[in-house]
Amino acid sequence: MKHKILVTRATFDDVVARLRERFEVEDNQKDDTPWTADELRRRLADKDGVLTTGSDRVDPALLDAAPRLKAVCNIAVGYNNVDLAACSERGIVATNTPGVLDETTADTTWVLLMAAARRITEAERWLRAGNWKGWKNDQFLGVDVHHATLGIIGMGRIGQAIAQRAKGFSMRVLYHNRSRLPAKVEREAGAKYVTLDRLLRDSDFVSLNMPYSPSSHHLIGAKQLALMKPTAVIVNAARGGVIDDAALIAALKEKRIAAAGIDVFEGEPKFNPGFLDLDNVALVPHIGSATRATRTAMATLASKNLTAALSGRRPPNLLNPEAWAKRRR
Ligand code: DGY
Repeated sequence: MKHKILVTRATFDDVVARLRERFEVEDNQKDDTPWTADELRRRLADKDGVLTTGSDRVDPALLDAAPRLKAVCNIAVGYNNVDLAACSERGIVATNTPGVLDETTADTTWVLLMAAARRITEAERWLRAGNWKGWKNDQFLGVDVHHATLGIIGMGRIGQAIAQRAKGFSMRVLYHNRSRLPAKVEREAGAKYVTLDRLLRDSDFVSLNMPYSPSSHHLIGAKQLALMKPTAVIVNAARGGVIDDAALIAALKEKRIAAAGIDVFEGEPKFNPGFLDLDNVALVPHIGSATRATRTAMATLASKNLTAALSGRRPPNLLNPEAWAKRRR
């Protein structure tokens, strides 16, 4: 008998086709409407495994509605949507997709950093609106990226990939992390460890790259923004909620910092409408890992995790090892 699995959101057809070779699959390929919590509970009632995305909330109520569920495999490196403790209590293994999206997310960070620094989205909106009457010396003056100081908060794999790219721009790189990295890694990244306050004071560009958790909630708020230079640019391609969006909007509005590049929002897909009144922010809808190759790699890795878990093998990206010994079979 094949295990039954649910794939909550549309993914690439070939990924689903491969899953069908092993499992009885219920998918959302046709219309990709996000299911309500009630619908998810109903669909999970007879499932052994589920492929989720960051927008699915995996909480105790959902898990209690899924008595056969053995594995929750998130197609994302972030897993703040999954209640890991609740999974572990019930012997359900949980996994994520680290590693395969580092370079793409680092690229996105750079796109936002440069777009915000050089006012690209603002200039394009202005041009498209038919405002361009001729060249002017002071049109859309931005700030230089090359030879500036980049401060990276959260120096995991993505942070390190961002630092590598800074070498091409002859930048000085500072970083702050929960724990300092080994000297060899610092050398390879060309980055210097500093306190958070020092990083905020000294950087021309600040990039946030840590996971969301209660301890990173509003890590950057009014107090931290007040430490930054008035010419500084901040980029968030990490998670909504690590910046206090209302405080950021106030700082951008009052030009206490120069600009921001934002991929992720508190409460997304809803977001603070104050962003829309600002010219000095480049906004994109959570597309940090959105290339065909990377999204395919993420879905493939999540599928491997699920296949392993349902075949009794330890999945490569197990998030809750404590669940393994008492896993549901
Ligand atoms: C992740 O992997 O956590 C991303 O935010 C999803 O694209």
